[in-house]
Amino acid sequence: MGMYLLKTTAFAAGLALMAGSVAQADEGATLVINEELTIATTAKAPAHLENIDEITSGWIYRTKETQALQMDDFDNPAFVFVDIALDLWNEVDGTEGKSCASCHTDGPEEFAGLTATMPRIDKDGNLETLTEVVNRERVEKMGAKPWKYSKTNMASMTALIGLQSRGMPVNVAIDGAAAPFWERGKELYYTRVGQLDISCSNCHEDNYGVMIRADHLSQGQINGFPTYRLKNAKMNTTHGRFKGCMKNIRAVPYKEGGEEFKAIELYLASRGNGLTVETPSVRN
Ligand code: HEC
Ligand code: HEC
Repeated sequence: MGMYLLKTTAFAAGLALMAGSVAQADEGATLVINEELTIATTAKAPAHLENIDEITSGWIYRTKETQALQMDDFDNPAFVFVDIALDLWNEVDGTEGKSCASCHTDGPEEFAGLTATMPRIDKDGNLETLTEVVNRERVEKMGAKPWKYSKTNMASMTALIGLQSRGMPVNVAIDGAAAPFWERGKELYYTRVGQLDISCSNCHEDNYGVMIRADHLSQGQINGFPTYRLKNAKMNTTHGRFKGCMKNIRAVPYKEGGEEFKAIELYLASRGNGLTVETPSVRN
């Protein structure tokens, strides 16, 4: 590992790659949440992955301190946002005088398993993300305004819904009507972009496990999203994270909620097929 990037001059010069220099993470640690829920942080790679045998959760690359925050819901700062979402769940909004709770009377528990299969193909054959589903509910069922794609309300609600799948295996469909979207996402994942002329794969497939600046590179999995980041003390969505990575390589990011990021989201979710949903996770 590390070879590819070292061959990319701009990358090596610009980002000072320090392969294997600091061993601060415990890559062999086991994630057990609340002393009862064991999470599979490694799994056999799904058949479609040609260059990787084992898939790994981003959790294992974090420091012991950051890892610990995700091991107990009382310590996990993301639960502040889960609580915000529970308030929103019961809040009447829009012209129909309804809240989520008005119709979903069994509570968010109704959505157990949903996040493990998102994004998915909707009834019209389009790729839909959980964020889009929530906004469809707000607009069509409540007569309320859509929430901004990555802002607090939406990130909190998708965290609350994602929590219902915590502990379940990621299992997104990539065949049938999903296939063209998946192909597009795969293409984008391997396409070099930006001033540094590198692709997602150059970091997250060719170099996971190495240090880049002070950060320990993971496989860029999304099984923990939305995730609480210590860096910005808020919930971070997948598209927000993709945007950040594109900015870091000095590429013009695609649009949050746009076709490119949705396709990348499907492709990345499928790279995690077999890992466990960890939402809401904690990262640095
Ligand atoms: C220059 C190397 C680099 C490139 C290229 C890059 N990333 Fe990242 N990415 C990082 C670093 C560093 C982190 C933070 C540490 C980690 O989790 O790997 C990160 C984190 C992530 C995470 C969060 C993983 C987690 O478990 O929280 C995702 C998802 C991600 N990247 C997706 C992408 C996508 C999609 C692309 C291509 C558009 C991309 N990255 C390109 C360096 C890169
Ligand atoms: C007027 C009643 C009503 C309201 C209000 C409502 N929903 Fe729904 N929701 C439904 C019905 C009925 C379905 C299933 C059929 C469909 O998709 O239209 C559904 C489907 C969903 C789904 C997809 C479930 C799946 O397994 O595919 C999600 C997620 C969801 N709602 C979340 C919400 C959230 C979050 C809110 C509040 C922001 C909300 N809903 C408000 C009635 C409602």
